[in-house]
Amino acid sequence: MPNLALHGGAPAKSKPFPVWPIYDDLERDALNEVLESRVWWRTPGTKTLAFEREFAAYHQAKHGIAVTNGTHAIEVALAAMGIGPGDEVIVPNATFVATASAVLFAGALPVLVDVRADSYCIDPELAEAAINENTKAIIAVHMGGRPADLDQLTALAAKHGIPLLEDAAHAHGSEWRGRKVGAFGIGGTFSFQASKNMTAGEGGMIISNDDDFERLARSTHDCGRMPGEWFYSHYIYGSNYRLSEWQGAVLLAQLTRLDDQTARRHQNGRLLDGLLSEIPGITPQSHDPRITRNGQYAYIFHLDSRAFAGIATAQFVEALEAEGVPTQAPYPPLHLVDLFRSGAYRSRLSGAQAEGSHEFLRDAFLNSLRESDETVWITQNALLGDEEDMREIAAAIGKLQRYARDLK
Ligand SMILES: Cc1ncc(COP(=O)(O)O)c(C=O)c1O
Repeated sequence: MPNLALHGGAPAKSKPFPVWPIYDDLERDALNEVLESRVWWRTPGTKTLAFEREFAAYHQAKHGIAVTNGTHAIEVALAAMGIGPGDEVIVPNATFVATASAVLFAGALPVLVDVRADSYCIDPELAEAAINENTKAIIAVHMGGRPADLDQLTALAAKHGIPLLEDAAHAHGSEWRGRKVGAFGIGGTFSFQASKNMTAGEGGMIISNDDDFERLARSTHDCGRMPGEWFYSHYIYGSNYRLSEWQGAVLLAQLTRLDDQTARRHQNGRLLDGLLSEIPGITPQSHDPRITRNGQYAYIFHLDSRAFAGIATAQFVEALEAEGVPTQAPYPPLHLVDLFRSGAYRSRLSGAQAEGSHEFLRDAFLNSLRESDETVWITQNALLGDEEDMREIAAAIGKLQRYARDLK
């Protein structure tokens, strides 16, 4: 009788995890209300407007601007910051491509720096070393919901007079020292794409406490209009990044569950930290006492394959999935993505910058490689399970360790 589920044995996990996305009559009624109101678009609507206000207030920020997705949120934020050709923006190398492609969309150069080996978030010391006279912003990504070091990053931004933008696509409800992330610097961006901790299939948000930034971002997202002015007056360059009322209505409903769901994901994450730390070869993404809540878009841990008979991470993941634990792929490091490797990114640049040597691309990016090749990401819906589910995840990993030789 085989032991591993991959080979036909009984899976370690039999009780199903909560299925994502979660919805009920709140979403159903809200959608119906929009339908019957016949107001389906943002401009005269009330749902997206209310969602902007409630989401911003929940994140302890003054302003919220809902946009079409998390990529556009970064694009609009960079436009409002005046980022353009010739500028450089410091970006972590381990992230989804949008963090860097939004910089290219602005015609500026994303300067990739490595992440920390323990958090997989941008290394503030490397970010500081990358600053020069062309640096116009730093983007931090709260990887998997775990805030980057916001003490060091805000100090760095203040010291050099460079704005900090938080890409909080993973970090709805995450907290640093008791304060929600997203408005520690000039602003923060969120995604409501299908896998995210609250979703309308697609969607995004920019939050901020900065009135000037907000005014420009709001105008950029609405064809260069200014609130209260005639509909066909367009004061600055903008485009249509508006979120529909359907999505605003769904997200208002999703927001009512975010606090409880985040509390549960955080609590289960810390339970897993304890359980998995006891398994040789498993190192959870570092927690930090200043993180009072981790939104936990994913539960990330490092796998030292030497403690698992030397199997490849992909083999471990395949066997873990077969045991009934859902995972998602880590990000490939951006310097190895075709966009950067082939030089295609240069087509977005101009002048001397387009011809530059871009020495940063020659970095070994060892910690980004650690993230892409040696980490395992358990999906956020699993963290909405109960304590027994977490113990079963740990048991499944323990089982893989016992029978790792069978995977060779
Ligand atoms: C870190 C990060 N930034 C930005 C985005 C872009 O968000 P969206 O998919 O909503 O455009 C994502 C989405 O996966 C992300 O993970």
